[in-house]
Amino acid sequence: MKKLIIANWKLNPITIKDARELAASISVKAKNKVVLCPPTIYLSNIQYPNIGAQDCFWAEKGTYTGQTSAAQLKDLGIKYCLVGHSEKREFGGDSDEIVNAKAKACLANKIIPVICVGFGTTVEQDDLEVTDVLKRQLDMDLKDIDPEKVIVAYEPVWAISKGNPNVTRAADAEHAEKMAIFIKTRYKVKKVIYGASVNTGNAKGFLSQPNIDGLLVGGASLNAKDFNQIINM
Ligand code: PGA
Repeated sequence: MKKLIIANWKLNPITIKDARELAASISVKAKNKVVLCPPTIYLSNIQYPNIGAQDCFWAEKGTYTGQTSAAQLKDLGIKYCLVGHSEKREFGGDSDEIVNAKAKACLANKIIPVICVGFGTTVEQDDLEVTDVLKRQLDMDLKDIDPEKVIVAYEPVWAISKGNPNVTRAADAEHAEKMAIFIKTRYKVKKVIYGASVNTGNAKGFLSQPNIDGLLVGGASLNAKDFNQIINM
């Protein structure tokens, strides 16, 4: 079964030339389904079969300086959009109410929202503590939304790399699988993917879990050699 591998380029690279080169070096015939999420400014400038956005605004249009709406993404042919990434929750102030509104805006425009949840600053948090936070986030993030129409990305925040996923520690695949089962059982979500410090050494372990339907890859998606290896696992 094909899994879904989403590349989150974050704020990289800094030239359109590099962005085009990176996109062109990613296989279009990979074993798994691949979505590239470049910075908004490159969305209409790079070529790849599946392109996603890293964020969108909840309103369609109007007096909202600096924002990009789901309606505009739809017009560009964008099919996926990350919402509620922990970095946006942290420096963009996205509350769960806002995440919910953004996910609804995506669905209204036939874009699949990839709702990112997870927390923690250390590896010490136990599963119960984690599920408590996931409940708080998802009760609101998924309010009045058909759970079968979204993807949830479980990203333990303590494990997200600062760019180099080879020097940080990912969660255990067994822990990620348990959280995926929790999310699917409680919320009737059909697709859960894992993200945070995915690299060529640990990707297979996550992809072999029956309830993990794919990966959200940050740092390793900027290295074409590593990412091509991951999407073909
Ligand atoms: P990472 O980022 O793979 O560099 O840890 C993942 C993410 O933040 O989505």
